[in-house]
Amino acid sequence: MLRCLLLLTAASLLYAAKEDYMNQCMDGKHHKTEPGPEDKLHGQCVAWKEKACCTTNTSHAAHDDQSYLYNFNWNHCGVMSEQCRKHFVQDTCFYECSPNLGPWIETVDQSWRKQRIVDVPLCKEDCETWYNDCKQDYTCMENWHKGWNWTSGFNRCPIGSLCRKIEVVFPSAKDFCEKLWSNSYKFSDSVRGSGRCMQIFFINNDVTPNVKVAEYYAGLKGSGHSPLLRSAMLLLPLSSLWLV
Ligand SMILES: *[C@@H]1O[C@H](CO)[C@@H](O)[C@H](O)[C@H]1NC(C)=O
Ligand SMILES: *[C@@H]1O[C@H](CO)[C@@H](O)[C@H](O)[C@H]1NC(C)=O
Repeated sequence: MLRCLLLLTAASLLYAAKEDYMNQCMDGKHHKTEPGPEDKLHGQCVAWKEKACCTTNTSHAAHDDQSYLYNFNWNHCGVMSEQCRKHFVQDTCFYECSPNLGPWIETVDQSWRKQRIVDVPLCKEDCETWYNDCKQDYTCMENWHKGWNWTSGFNRCPIGSLCRKIEVVFPSAKDFCEKLWSNSYKFSDSVRGSGRCMQIFFINNDVTPNVKVAEYYAGLKGSGHSPLLRSAMLLLPLSSLWLV
């Protein structure tokens, strides 16, 4: 009876280790503490309506220039083209709304957020279309997280920096997706539907491909790194000995 209980405990810990990484909202600037349904999400953010880390307000702001979210100015080297902008809007929705980023959340020492995402494997096509739709646009920065002149309340190119074509600043799609947000993304050679990379765009607003990918990486992390699970595994044979 007791041994049975212990086995059940171990099994549920294994499950919990994986579940620890599922349905998580990072401790960011605007994220909800828990994911939940949001039936009024706006525009490109609607894909996450069944389980979202963003509020309706955040989803609206994700579509604005210099929104209250981060006061980020997409038009720092002339007006960003519509075809390029839609990817940045999608990226913002993904970052703010996705509850499937648990395996890549890390703690950071930053004034504006306590957690960030690192090395989220971005599907080849999602990165390449983003790059291709933006490569004729201009920027003055390789890392859009730092180095800006914020004195007027939004980011502007600092004196001495040059506006150059994105395809000049970033020679490849991989370079672009990885460097832009200081390695929040990692370029993946895997393709959409492979179960090994995250998409930012979805067909019919169906985010389940990403749920599957998150479960896969959560399983990898869960089996290797949970100290709670390791101690349970150690205790199990010991406690069985005491029982005989
Ligand atoms: C959402 O936006 C509306 C309109 O701007 C505002 O009145 C409301 O207080 C906001 N809600 C939250 C939770 O921030
Ligand atoms: C930052 O912008 C202000 C104007 O808003 C300007 O006076 C200042 O020289 C700029 N500094 C740098 C380093 O770009």
